[in-house]
Amino acid sequence: MKVGILGSGDVGKRLAGGFASRGHEVSLGTRSPQNPELVKWAASVKGKVTIGSVADAARHGELVVLAVHGDSAVAVLEAAGAAQLAGKVLIDVTNPLDFSKGMPPTLFVGTTDSLGEQIQRAVPSAKVVKAFNTVGSPQMVDPRVKGQPRLELLIAGNDAGAKQKVTEIAKSFGWAGTLDAGGIEASRWLEAMVPLWVRVGSAVQTFSHVWVVARD
Ligand SMILES: NC(=O)c1ccc[n+]([C@@H]2O[C@H](COP(=O)([O-])OP(=O)(O)OC[C@H]3O[C@@H](n4cnc5c(N)ncnc54)[C@H](OP(=O)(O)O)[C@@H]3O)[C@@H](O)[C@H]2O)c1
Repeated sequence: MKVGILGSGDVGKRLAGGFASRGHEVSLGTRSPQNPELVKWAASVKGKVTIGSVADAARHGELVVLAVHGDSAVAVLEAAGAAQLAGKVLIDVTNPLDFSKGMPPTLFVGTTDSLGEQIQRAVPSAKVVKAFNTVGSPQMVDPRVKGQPRLELLIAGNDAGAKQKVTEIAKSFGWAGTLDAGGIEASRWLEAMVPLWVRVGSAVQTFSHVWVVARD
């Protein structure tokens, strides 16, 4: 599959490497395609990653991943071109984190709206699936937690077929499967888990922790 990744930070690189290592052809979109560190990183990845603008990545991808800071998410989609995303699965990894009062972060939207819903409204013809946003970037691909063989990825979105596609991707990345929280409005609660994830990480003194739904 051809995959476009919008964003070249920790998440963009981690997911780009994951897709490329599973044989997908990845285009990574950034404002700085000439960045020598990024060029060097792309050359070191197992599989194929090319670097270009966010519009290049959106055009290239049959499936597109949005992995930029929450406060720039809608602007990046505009720069990528909404028409390029029409009909495509758009995996939204963003969080509306507000660090203006320091750590731990709060949210700049929540409870009655979410960044996932804002993104779906910005690109109504894309099939937005909130996914990976509740997971630290190192654990997004090949997740490992001692004593927890069954790790499931929380997702939300309006399109059942798109969520099925994301489930297949999650499984190929080493997740046992996905837990479907509901329509895109469930992003309100998946996003709210992230300031909690930071607080819990401080309490347990690790940031490689993963949410697990224990059941009998
Ligand atoms: N890090 C994690 O463990 C983690 C886990 C789950 C979800 N997330 C979410 O994933 C997203 C990316 O996180 P990250 O850790 O990869 O962040 P990061 O390493 O700080 O990278 C930030 C990315 O956002 C883009 N960006 C920042 N300001 C921008 C602006 N004004 N206009 C356009 N693009 C801008 C950058 O684009 P350029 O490539 O152009 O520089 C870069 O790709 C965030 O929404 C975060 O909350 C992060």
